[in-house]
Amino acid sequence: MKVSRARYGIDRPSLAALSFSEAALSVALAAAVYGYTPAPFALRAVVLAVGAAAGARFLLRGASYVLGARGGKLRDRDRLFRDIDWQGVRGVLDAGCGPGLLLVGSAKAAPDSRVTGVDIWDRRLESGNSPRRALENAAIEGVGDRVEVREGDIRRLPFTDSTFDLVLSRAVLNHVKGAGARRAAVHELVRVLRPGGQLGLVIVDDWNLDEYKAWLRDEGVEVRAFREAARYPPGLVFLRALTGMPTLVGVKGPERQGPVTPGG
Ligand SMILES: C[S@@+](CC[C@H](N)C(=O)[O-])C[C@H]1O[C@@H](n2cnc3c(N)ncnc32)[C@H](O)[C@@H]1O
Repeated sequence: MKVSRARYGIDRPSLAALSFSEAALSVALAAAVYGYTPAPFALRAVVLAVGAAAGARFLLRGASYVLGARGGKLRDRDRLFRDIDWQGVRGVLDAGCGPGLLLVGSAKAAPDSRVTGVDIWDRRLESGNSPRRALENAAIEGVGDRVEVREGDIRRLPFTDSTFDLVLSRAVLNHVKGAGARRAAVHELVRVLRPGGQLGLVIVDDWNLDEYKAWLRDEGVEVRAFREAARYPPGLVFLRALTGMPTLVGVKGPERQGPVTPGG
């Protein structure tokens, strides 16, 4: 199997670092209690076991985020792309493209396309987050001549109406604070999509899913495909970073349903 040198970053790198610190702290504290306190042996053994279990969970969480950069993200992309009809796709937007996972992937999937990425390039949300990294990845994957990136906020996309055949966004809406702002972002994603065009989302905050589906309906988008993420017991939901997030593909109808006020 050909392994790409492209690096698409670790989602929420600070959370990964925090997890590893918490793992080290839990084990160190438990070991200190076990080794240096006069408590009865049974009690010290319980503290050690609890500390080790907590440490293992934190370690697993950190590892999921780090390994997810190679596994889960690519899996998200594959699952989403399977539901997209690539025929005739020429103009693509990746909103919140970061280092270019969907940006580069869509340029490869639609060989006649021109692909645009916009982002605010927040390094707290993605490791190595920069326009340069996205363009490097595009060049590594051999699609540099069809990819462009620019600064832009998903709540006010810098494009005219009906510009793109396909609009994509992965793990971005969950970083937009407030329902009104997320509503505005959904409006923008649909506004720049041409009638009949497709919208593909990878949704991290699936607790907001009903809201997203209702907003898309209001915007005249029919959801054609939805893939749920694997279910995990509470406390282990972070494993979705490894195995994949929910994905949704919708098609914008020929007629808009009437004026929609973002945030309304
Ligand atoms: C978890 S990263 C995902 C990056 C990329 N979509 C991927 O799947 O690898 C979230 C991205 O959303 C971007 N972002 C957050 N808020 C945004 C906003 N209001 N407008 C545009 N991009 C935003 C961040 O800069 C970051 O690149």
